Amino acid sequence: MAAASIWALAAGYCWRRWANWASSDRWGVDIEQAALRSAAAMLHAMLLERATLLRGSLWEPVGAARFDIVVANLPHFAATEPSDPDRSPYWSMGGVDGRHLLDPFLAGLGMHPTTVSPLITHNAFVGVDRTEAILLEQGLVSRGVLATTVPLHPAKTALLKAAVRARFTGAGISRLGPYEFADVQILEIRRA
Ligand SMILES: C[S@@+](CC[C@H](N)C(=O)[O-])C[C@H]1O[C@@H](n2cnc3c(N)ncnc32)[C@H](O)[C@@H]1O
Repeated sequence: MAAASIWALAAGYCWRRWANWASSDRWGVDIEQAALRSAAAMLHAMLLERATLLRGSLWEPVGAARFDIVVANLPHFAATEPSDPDRSPYWSMGGVDGRHLLDPFLAGLGMHPTTVSPLITHNAFVGVDRTEAILLEQGLVSRGVLATTVPLHPAKTALLKAAVRARFTGAGISRLGPYEFADVQILEIRRA
């Protein structure tokens, strides 16, 4: 697929999956300098060095720019403390319902129209219905294009908000003995 511009929020994994799209213009945003360094090293290794990597939060560093493709892998784990022992504090902490960053990201999509459908990672247990409602307000809809179930690290299990577990057990969260699992999707977003 050819595209004039690709914007990757929270850039690492996104770049690995999507940086190969033939593009004249690549942008990446992350709040952490170390993440941008990793993205730069990865792009260098892939011989895709023409990219603008910006440090900042969500849409703020790109102003009113429009992109052909937007991909995002946001922190959206329902915890209010850093929840990945081996990662940066910014890695997955999504606030009390997991939507602290997801909601403003989704709300900004309508202001940064894309020509190709945005792709985002989405934990089932942060409420796909809420995501659909925010999108619909902007004339957008989503559909799952990939789904998987992942085991949660015990440290994450310990920090997952009780109200979220109560609401989503059996509907995105499952348990097998001492192990807890979460359903995760990649959502494709389109004009309604
Ligand atoms: C789930 S990790 C994804 C990491 C990597 N991009 C990947 O896809 O493998 C979430 C990333 O979002 C970044 N992040 C956290 N808060 C952010 C914010 N407000 N704006 C932009 N990036 C943020 C973190 O630094 C982290 O790199």
